[in-house]
Amino acid sequence: MCRVSVHGNNATAASPAIAPGADEINVAAFAKELGQELRARGLDPRVTRHIPAMDAPYFQAGLAGYSDAAMRIIARRHGCPLAVTEALLDRMLLGGGRGFDKADLQLLAEAIPSSSEDQPLLGQIIGSDPDEMAAAALKMIEQAARGDKVYRAMAYPEGQGPTSTDPRWKGHATDSAGSSGAADIADAADACEDDCTPAALLALANQQPPEQYDPRAVTLPARPSARSGAPRGTHSANAISSAGATVNALQTASASPATATNNGPGLTYASIDVNLACPVKKIDRKSRGGHWLREPQGALEILKAVRQAVPAHVPCTVKLRRAYDDTPEMARNFEVIFVGAYELGYAFATVHARTVEQKYIGPSRWTFLKDLCERHGDKPVFGSGDVWNVHDIFRMIAYTGVSAVSVARGCIGNPWIFHQARQMLAGDAPTLPTIAQQRAVLHEHFALSVALNGEQNAGRMMRKFGIKFAQHHPQREQVQHAFIAVSALDSWKHVLDEWYAG
Ligand SMILES: Cc1cc2nc3c(=O)[nH]c(=O)nc-3n(C[C@H](O)[C@H](O)[C@H](O)COP(=O)(O)O)c2cc1C
Repeated sequence: MCRVSVHGNNATAASPAIAPGADEINVAAFAKELGQELRARGLDPRVTRHIPAMDAPYFQAGLAGYSDAAMRIIARRHGCPLAVTEALLDRMLLGGGRGFDKADLQLLAEAIPSSSEDQPLLGQIIGSDPDEMAAAALKMIEQAARGDKVYRAMAYPEGQGPTSTDPRWKGHATDSAGSSGAADIADAADACEDDCTPAALLALANQQPPEQYDPRAVTLPARPSARSGAPRGTHSANAISSAGATVNALQTASASPATATNNGPGLTYASIDVNLACPVKKIDRKSRGGHWLREPQGALEILKAVRQAVPAHVPCTVKLRRAYDDTPEMARNFEVIFVGAYELGYAFATVHARTVEQKYIGPSRWTFLKDLCERHGDKPVFGSGDVWNVHDIFRMIAYTGVSAVSVARGCIGNPWIFHQARQMLAGDAPTLPTIAQQRAVLHEHFALSVALNGEQNAGRMMRKFGIKFAQHHPQREQVQHAFIAVSALDSWKHVLDEWYAG
């Protein structure tokens, strides 16, 4: 569903991060040296201990409304070593059926047979209740061990879907009377969707054009052709089976790494990533996402419940904001949650260096990340905020000392950023995509999106990607307007034929 302004402020103009002196960094030299170091010693072992396949210090962020499997696979094909799902609401996951689609690796494998490319993958969850978060996290992991799709329905007693009468949802002190669980869930389904009016899409697209590099052609790695038109997986309706959200029962089935599975070889989540960062307004006045930064004990309860529920061999990670707001109390809260997460056994935290109150407005504070890394040298930290182009990736590492960089708005419609990062690690200048390369990727992304979302939804999804992809086109404005009119495959092809034929 396309709703106005839930993320709200993702369409504000980009600004450079707060990072005095960062401009003086020789980014190319730093990246080259880092590349040599990576080839000699590999990535930070504190990270690869948990995510062995991660071979470069950046990744595609969770981006609700964007980072579906289609976007992730396109990123992988351009050298992205790790990706995060969109934030998936615990109740939607537990409710099963359609609510589980975005998390369902088997469904994904049916829709996109080459989906084994989409690994390693962090499965991100968000929610309000420690028990629900724990059960949802376990269900994400548990699915890898069950080829029979029974996991889609696991969570509630026979015949009961998620309802507001579930006592587990009523315990929170700030619950408002008379709210309906169904409304919560409908609201939550859109909770992380962004503003997709044409004006907002254009504003988002035009935040900051990618830097211009030597326009010599990029030689991209060969890409297997995308298979389009694969049937979508069938949904077991909201038939709810017997597991009754018992974490124990689920744990039994997932006590060891998955072996027998129809998900394809090794298709699973590399980590469960707990979202304590999303600034979307609280649902029904319950804390969720970044709002937990005001309630550190509640945040720690969630982190603890999830860590205890998920089998020990599966890492847990956490996404945080640097604080709820700029008061000293909130700074202390951050510290309690940050330190507590590592004490609970979390592998690493990704810290978005804006406050929750800031949403996406104004600069992120890289000075905060630098200080955090200096003060907690024993803890691997991933950094997020104001990474708009490939240079920012290396600038952030050099300036702050983070172990890896989250690429978020900077990679929407710009999968080349990952290839450019590999070029810079190899000591080469990053290059821009040619029109032919852009056309190929636009085709490929649409085909993957059709396979995953069906043609109608793909048309809607791809319109907003097209507007972002248009940044690379010499006639950016005209192409953006052409993409705004896209509704389905025909109109998409028409834009490609008109603007990308050469
Ligand atoms: C449209 C949109 C959706 C987002 N969805 C998620 C999400 O689902 N999970 C998450 O951890 N972060 C999410 N984020 C936050 C980004 O991952 C990232 O932390 C943030 O955009 C700051 O990075 P940037 O300034 O480089 O874009 C979202 C951001 C945007 C703009």
